[in-house]
Amino acid sequence: MNSFPSLLESIDDLNKVQIDSLLSLSSNLKRNISLPIFDNSQKPIIATSFLENSTRTKHSFAIAVQRLGAMYIDFNAETSSLKKGESLEETFLTLHFQGVNLIIFRSSISNQLSQFRANLPLKIINGGDGINEHPTQALLDLFTLKEICPELKGKSIAIFGDNIHSRVGHSLIKLLPQFGMNVILCGPKHFLPSNQGIPEGVSLSNERDEALSKCDFIYLLRIQKERHQDSSSHGLDSDENYHQKYGFSLAHLKKMNKLIPVLHPGPANIGVEIDSDLIKSSLYKGYSQVENSIPMRMAIIKSMLVNNDKNIGLIHGEKL
Ligand code: CP
Repeated sequence: MNSFPSLLESIDDLNKVQIDSLLSLSSNLKRNISLPIFDNSQKPIIATSFLENSTRTKHSFAIAVQRLGAMYIDFNAETSSLKKGESLEETFLTLHFQGVNLIIFRSSISNQLSQFRANLPLKIINGGDGINEHPTQALLDLFTLKEICPELKGKSIAIFGDNIHSRVGHSLIKLLPQFGMNVILCGPKHFLPSNQGIPEGVSLSNERDEALSKCDFIYLLRIQKERHQDSSSHGLDSDENYHQKYGFSLAHLKKMNKLIPVLHPGPANIGVEIDSDLIKSSLYKGYSQVENSIPMRMAIIKSMLVNNDKNIGLIHGEKL
């Protein structure tokens, strides 16, 4: 039995068989994307609650829910009783007893969902938590990479930019080595983790062009200023200097003779980590990632709803 978890907080919550199954289901759903999965007699209720801004994640989940034929509600934290001091646990339990089966939750607080691991109020998908993880983005990135190159074993991807503050980066370094990929994290030293504690298959570089020469795929990250303690935390005085040392343009890739795919989770800061000539080129895969987010998120929702978890919404360890 390969039961999907009821809490998807981290890539660590999935095993390789489950990840392979999500890739295969996403691929099928992409081919038959208009087919609803749930009929009227078993319509689950799925909510999003985004306590941080989002364009891609929130709307692709909303579309995925509706394409599956489930009922969608957007829980607005700003106008909810969270603002009157109600706890997140009480909020989730309330939604559970209203019949919500699954919530997709985004927060600026890292690991906020770990508190529910022992006693889950409802099924939860992490839509990005602080600088911790963004597992569904990493899964749709993997789906996109496999579309470009079905056999990833032995291939290298360099993730350029603010690796230390990137929840997407943190999920990718757990996921991609499982598929035999080498991952190079590249950026100024302020944006890189220490050598200790990086997973097997991951290496570090401060030199853009050295990392570029070794990789088959480029993955660009935005400078996550909203998560920095001080505004110059790349240590390079200005975004112009950052662009000079770590930014990418189509012209630069041509000069380096490296016309390889460029991924970006978005939102992109044009003129900082990427130039508009590159975003407008066929090397840029950011829009394929957006497109693939729908079938992958449909696959994740469908897989998580199937398990009949009897431990959801228990009060003091008992069902009411
Ligand atoms: N990639 C991503 O998480 O984008 P949003 O912040 O727009 O959801």
